[in-house]
Amino acid sequence: MEAVNIGVVGLGNVGSGTLAILADNADQIALKLGFRLHVAAVCSRSVRSKELPSALASAAKTTDWRDVVNHPGVQIVTELVGGSGVAAEIIDAAIARGKSVVTANKELMASCGPEIWDRAIRAGINLAMEASVCGGIPIHAVLREGISGDRVTALYGILNGTSNYILTEMEKRGDSLPSVLAEAQQLGYAEADPSADIDGFDARSKLALLAALAFGEKIMPSDIFVEGIRRISPMDFRYAHTLQHTIRLVCAARQTHDGLILSVRPALIPQATILAGVQGAYNAVWVKGAFGEDTFYYGRGAGPRPTGVAVVSDLMRVAREIRYGSPERVSPFAHERLGEYKPVSVALQKRAYYLRFRVDDRPGIIAALAGILASKHISLESVLQEPCETKHDLPFVITVEPTSEQSVRDAVDEMSRLDFLREPPLALPIETAL
Ligand SMILES: NC(=O)c1ccc[n+]([C@@H]2O[C@H](COP(=O)([O-])OP(=O)(O)OC[C@H]3O[C@@H](n4cnc5c(N)ncnc54)[C@H](OP(=O)(O)O)[C@@H]3O)[C@@H](O)[C@H]2O)c1
Repeated sequence: MEAVNIGVVGLGNVGSGTLAILADNADQIALKLGFRLHVAAVCSRSVRSKELPSALASAAKTTDWRDVVNHPGVQIVTELVGGSGVAAEIIDAAIARGKSVVTANKELMASCGPEIWDRAIRAGINLAMEASVCGGIPIHAVLREGISGDRVTALYGILNGTSNYILTEMEKRGDSLPSVLAEAQQLGYAEADPSADIDGFDARSKLALLAALAFGEKIMPSDIFVEGIRRISPMDFRYAHTLQHTIRLVCAARQTHDGLILSVRPALIPQATILAGVQGAYNAVWVKGAFGEDTFYYGRGAGPRPTGVAVVSDLMRVAREIRYGSPERVSPFAHERLGEYKPVSVALQKRAYYLRFRVDDRPGIIAALAGILASKHISLESVLQEPCETKHDLPFVITVEPTSEQSVRDAVDEMSRLDFLREPPLALPIETAL
């Protein structure tokens, strides 16, 4: 049967991994599909200096993405440039030419995905985006198809490999965040500007996409409370361990009586939970369904080949649709518009909290803090203090019983004005198992 022709724009990490798989696994892909995937054109700004797999030598090479989109043979345009500028132009142009699109672009899909999807459907083409969240974990397929018969009540994820690598290295070695980050940057695991990873914004885009899929709602990144990991220090791991917990950047989407609560933030999680075992740059998604209960998905969240597998699998899905005319148009964006789940403020969430203080020691500190907690109707659960030689920067922790985030925020605001504190208290929710 005749091959389906594809064009690839962007030959960086994901683009090069995708081409390697298309070349090295071509025969098995053809056996699975019943026809071949043929790479007709490739593009990057520096395409001339790129070494392409020899099996793809016949592909047209260009520095202008328009040549790929307008190439008469190209049936599927693969956008692997990233960002929301040129990438949006490439996808718009492909849709306008009636060509299906495969993308790995979480940023663009999280901010404009629903509109792009609607345009794609009106144009009668497909838009596939498995690689945009969790690289090698096929979580889109799971939520759109695999467990679509269930009613999702909660989803927790570790969705940013860089911050998980940093936290787990801090935990193992007891080193500070700046030193682990500097090492990760040297090894190429973290960007020179690490903000998107360690301030939680990358994870927030991914949670917006996953929560839209899981809950059938239009969810924008701005609906999600975000707090990064910059304030986490080795002592927080020591205190967390004393409480039989650890600390991870937890992406959470939970249906509550008040509405859908969405957050990306460092949180204590019980050491005994499966999520606590997710180490290094791995990603994981833990979904709770009303009927099927827990399912857990784990794998590499990034990297040329794991992400390349997701891109190639999307190409196969879309190519099958083109060849056999069997549209598989399950929307990745709020396809049901279920209307059941409305995002509400994280301030409504009720959790136990971990409050960590650094103080200049003097009599009456605990009494002052306890007084503020009592005035907000927050019950103190425990006070933990490691032995410390100095009285000028003394750390200790108070845990409180489940209460509303708003009460904790009010208490932290009031505590921050106390003159014995060296910095505002660090407040982290203590998560339970799903
Ligand atoms: N890296 C991962 O593991 C991973 C995982 C999941 C999803 N993603 C997503 O995958 C996408 C690509 O990420 P990446 O890490 O592969 O990025 P990357 O390594 O920076 O590669 C980007 C590629 O796009 C090309 N490019 C940029 N502007 C262009 C333009 N105007 N015209 C033509 N080509 C242009 C670059 O060309 P030059 O080579 O000439 O500079 C480069 O080849 C992003 O949306 C990212 O979020 C990445």
